[in-house]
Amino acid sequence: MKILLTGGTGYIGSHTAVELLENGYEVEILDNLFNSKKTVLDDIEKITGIKPKFHEVDLLDMPAVEKVFEEGNFDLVMHFAGLKAVGESVEKPLKYYENNVGGTINLLKCMEKSRVKRIVFSSSATVYGNQGVAELTEEMQTGVGITNPYGETKHIIEELLKDVSESDSEFEATILRYFNPVGAHSSGFLGEDPNDIPNNLMPIIMKVSIGEIKELSVYGDDYDTIDGTGVRDYIHVVDLAKGHVAALKKMGPGVSIYNLGTGKGTSVFEMISAFEKASGKKLPYKVVERRPGDLAEMYANPNKANQELDWHTELSIEDAMNDTINYLRHIEKK
Ligand code: WQD
Repeated sequence: MKILLTGGTGYIGSHTAVELLENGYEVEILDNLFNSKKTVLDDIEKITGIKPKFHEVDLLDMPAVEKVFEEGNFDLVMHFAGLKAVGESVEKPLKYYENNVGGTINLLKCMEKSRVKRIVFSSSATVYGNQGVAELTEEMQTGVGITNPYGETKHIIEELLKDVSESDSEFEATILRYFNPVGAHSSGFLGEDPNDIPNNLMPIIMKVSIGEIKELSVYGDDYDTIDGTGVRDYIHVVDLAKGHVAALKKMGPGVSIYNLGTGKGTSVFEMISAFEKASGKKLPYKVVERRPGDLAEMYANPNKANQELDWHTELSIEDAMNDTINYLRHIEKK
C-alpha cells in the first residue's frame, strides 16, 4: 500500500512515517518545509533504512499538487500539513483559513481527480471547544466555543470530510483528534524541532532547558485543578504515530472519529517536576497571568480507539521526558 503523508517532515508526520515504514508500507512525503527541515528525511532513513520520496510542495500550489497525484498512484493520504500555532492564528486568521482549509480543499480535489478514496486526518481536541467537563468523548458536539481560528480550521476540515463522504459512498475518512503530543523517537534522531516560536508547553520547556528561553511562564496557578495549574492529556508521539497505523488497518466507508490520548491528565507543575527528574536539573519558571482561551482541564476518553482500533498508549510521561532529553542531546551535537 502506497501512502502520501502531507506535512510528513513535521513532528507527528515524521514519527508516523517511521511507524508506517517499519510496518512495510510504502511512504512518500509532501511538505513545504515552512515548519520543518528537509534533513528529517535523512533522520527517517537512519531509523528505518529507507528515505521516503520527497515532494517540496505547498498545498496551495495546485498544479504542483496535481502533478504529485498524477505520478503518485497513492492508495491513501495521511494529512498532517497545517499551521498550528494557536496564538498566531488569532493574529493572522486569513493565513490560517487559507493555508489549512484552502490547502485541504486542494488536496481533496486532487484526491478526487486521481480517485484516491482514503484519508486519515490529523485533527485536534481543540475542536471540542469548552464542553464544561474535562473528559472528552467523540460523540460530543464539536465546534462550539472554540477560542481560536486554528481550532476552527480543524473543525471546518472535519465537516468538509463528512460532506465529501456524503457525496461519495466509496470515500473513507478517519479523523484522529490528538490531545497533547510530547516526546521523541527513542533513537534521538526525531523529535519536536519547530522552525517557528513554539506555543506549546513541551517545546518551550525544551528551549528553557537549553537556555534559548530564560524561564518558563506558567500560565496561571489558580485553576480548579489538582495544583492550580492547567491539566492536559500528554500523549507520547510514538504512541500517537502507532495510532495512525492502527487506524489505517481498520478503515472502511464513511467517516470514523477517534480520540488519541492517554485518558489521564497531567498538570503543568507535574510536567515541570517530571522534566526536572529526567534531566537532573531545575527548570526556571515563574507563574504569570492565565492565557486567554485556556481551559482548566481536558483529557481524552480513549475507549473508542482502544476497542475499535485495538490501540492503547504504552509510553509514560517519564518516557516522554527521557526521550525528549535524549533528542536534545542529539541535536546539540549536530
Ligand atoms: C498546555 C498547558 C497551558 C505554554 C494546544 C492546541 C491543541 C494542540 C496542543 C495541536 C496549558 C500551559 C503552555 C507555556 C504554560 N495542538 N502552558 N506555559 O493549549 O492544551 O493545546 O496544543 O494540535 O490543538 O490547542 O497546549 O502546550 O499550549 O498548553 O503554562 O509557555 O501548558 O496553560 O495548561 P494546549 P499547550
